[in-house]
Amino acid sequence: MEMWEAIRARRNVRTYAERPIAHKDLNRILEATRRSPSSSNRQRWDFVICTDRAQLEDLSTVWRGAGHVAASAATIALVAPNGDDARTRESVQYDLGQATMSIMLAAADLGIGSGHAAVSDQELARRILGFPEDRFCAWLIALGYPADRPLTPIERPNRRPLEDVVHRGQW
Ligand SMILES: Cc1cc2nc3c(=O)[nH]c(=O)nc-3n(C[C@H](O)[C@H](O)[C@H](O)COP(=O)(O)O)c2cc1C
Repeated sequence: MEMWEAIRARRNVRTYAERPIAHKDLNRILEATRRSPSSSNRQRWDFVICTDRAQLEDLSTVWRGAGHVAASAATIALVAPNGDDARTRESVQYDLGQATMSIMLAAADLGIGSGHAAVSDQELARRILGFPEDRFCAWLIALGYPADRPLTPIERPNRRPLEDVVHRGQW
């Protein structure tokens, strides 16, 4: 897929075909994630990739909106340091947002769907993933080939109109 196609085709995919994701494709998605920009290039992140079905099922219980993780082909957990102050926490979240979009666009480029999930139960996530006490699991990004329909550019996205969101020169 061309980048412009991938941008328009990406959507949250929450039902996945049983087809696994090839190792080289998962590695490409992880490489895209690693290359994401971050504040002062600090890269305050680690990524835990999960493909084991039982682990994915456990992971799907960390938040009531994470159910789709259970049937994903793979899920990437975004893990970051616990920030001491609000400014650091905001900056880390911005960086994680950039990493998330890298994952999603690299996946869409390969025809692979992706779906965010928040994490509510940090202790449960820690037990399942084994990350240290000074980190938290910020987000889960589930991956898999869409069970419903392939990724193709969305002609009319559910978004505010361009002229509503864009202010040219001044508000
Ligand atoms: C910060 C953030 C958190 C989200 N958390 C969840 C979640 O916990 N569960 C879920 O099913 N979707 C989650 N989503 C997906 C959004 O609902 C989705 O991106 C939005 O409705 C737009 O739909 P689209 O991604 O298909 O364009 C989250 C998205 C973002 C950006």
